Amino acid sequence: MTIEGKNAIEQNIISRRTIKKFKADPVDPQEIIELLNVAKWAPNHKITEPWRFQLYVGKGKEKFAQAFIDSQPMEDGEPSERTLRKAQYYKDIPLQLVVIMPEDPRQRTWDEDYGAVSAFIQNFQLAAWERGIGMVWRTNDWVYNPVFREGIGVKPGEKIVATLMIGYPQHIPAARPRTDIQEFMTIIEE
Ligand SMILES: Cc1cc2nc3c(=O)[nH]c(=O)nc-3n(C[C@H](O)[C@H](O)[C@H](O)COP(=O)(O)O)c2cc1C
Repeated sequence: MTIEGKNAIEQNIISRRTIKKFKADPVDPQEIIELLNVAKWAPNHKITEPWRFQLYVGKGKEKFAQAFIDSQPMEDGEPSERTLRKAQYYKDIPLQLVVIMPEDPRQRTWDEDYGAVSAFIQNFQLAAWERGIGMVWRTNDWVYNPVFREGIGVKPGEKIVATLMIGYPQHIPAARPRTDIQEFMTIIEE
């Protein structure tokens, strides 16, 4: 899709969509590392690099899915069908990438770190999109659940900023409309 009057980077930003339906084709973990090495050029005050990553590939995805299952309410001591269906959906997605930041007790540092990690993630989404790789940035309830956190080895004092579920898009949804910025803008000239 070409958007008239927009340069390549503008087109990439506008055309990227959150993807939830993926092809079964595998995504090369090395390519993800390559893309993360691009994304790390995000603005980051004092270059603290406040991030670490856990990438779940192949059989490794079982561990991610099990932590999810364990974090969900049981029915008669068993995971519900809904839970198992979701776990299978997650396992079928080629890659899961968990993005983790330290939770600095100082508000300013926490804010700066979250800003940097968010910029990192968007860089990553855009760089991947340019190569035809899609993802969904997830912050479901279970990423805050101690059972899931412990299950995947996230320590107290760390925050899961995103679970990114990554693959080649099977379906690219239509964009949800965005408001003209002028509606949010006050220009002060004098
Ligand atoms: C901080 C953050 C958390 C998000 N969490 C979720 C989520 O838990 N589940 C989900 O389906 N999408 C999640 N999204 C994706 C948004 O829903 C998505 O960006 C939005 O619907 C707009 O769609 P687009 O990215 O295709 O423009 C999240 C996005 C951000 C920035």
